[in-house]
Amino acid sequence: MVEFKGTKSSWGLVAKLFHWSLALVLFWQVATGITLHNMEFSPLKMGFIITHKFFGTVVFSLVVLRLIWKYIFNTHPRYENIPLFHKLVSNLVHFILYGLVILIPIQGTFMTWLEGGDVYLLGLIKIPPLIEENFILYPEALTIHYYSALILTAVFSLHITAALYHRFMIKDKYGVWKRMSFNKNKV
Ligand code: HEM
Ligand code: HEM
Repeated sequence: MVEFKGTKSSWGLVAKLFHWSLALVLFWQVATGITLHNMEFSPLKMGFIITHKFFGTVVFSLVVLRLIWKYIFNTHPRYENIPLFHKLVSNLVHFILYGLVILIPIQGTFMTWLEGGDVYLLGLIKIPPLIEENFILYPEALTIHYYSALILTAVFSLHITAALYHRFMIKDKYGVWKRMSFNKNKV
């Protein structure tokens, strides 16, 4: 039977779909972001920026929906037998990840307004600019955007390393991998 909501040992189908789709879009987003950083101004770069802005708003929308699902509708799996240190560090890492994937798209949106550009949520709904254009502040905003993306990359690399450690090194002895996996039986 498909479990949409979380159970004692699983985050449930909906949370898993949110988690893995966000992971995919975020890989794309960071990869295109870093590529943009190294590109000279050109029509190709302009095209990249349009796609980057679109997927940036996809990231934001997925995170908001995911948090609503997590805190309002879903039931959470139990953390049984996990050492307190693991629990604290993983909760901290999850908190920082959520913080960054909310803040970076908002900051990217403000940065776009600074250079006089428009932002469309999911390519459909124009978000009315909340600030005036300001070309003097733009380079600083771009630097903040870039370094925040590097911090995000570092934190989610840590998260992935921890997940792989649970999966392969300690053979998922606390069931942490299985909770987020689509394949409940295989570790
Ligand atoms: C989690 C989501 C995002 C990540 C990880 C991310 C990451 C990046 C990175 C690494 C760059 C390269 C910065 C540089 O050239 O130094 C970049 C550029 C850019 N980002 Fe984002 N970004 C995200 C979301 C957004 C959003 C939502 C928007 C606006 C709607 C946005 C707008 C831009 C623009 C306009 C540039 C190009 C700036 C330029 O080269 O002039 N980003 N992004
Ligand atoms: C290949 C990449 C990834 C792997 C292998 C992975 C693996 C996992 C695993 C095994 C869990 C369950 C941990 C637990 O129940 O305590 C988990 C939870 C979580 N992951 Fe990932 N993850 C990846 C990418 C990401 C990314 C890019 C984010 C960025 C937002 C992220 C955010 C989270 C959060 C916040 C949780 C806690 C559960 C929740 O709030 O839904 N993960 N991840």
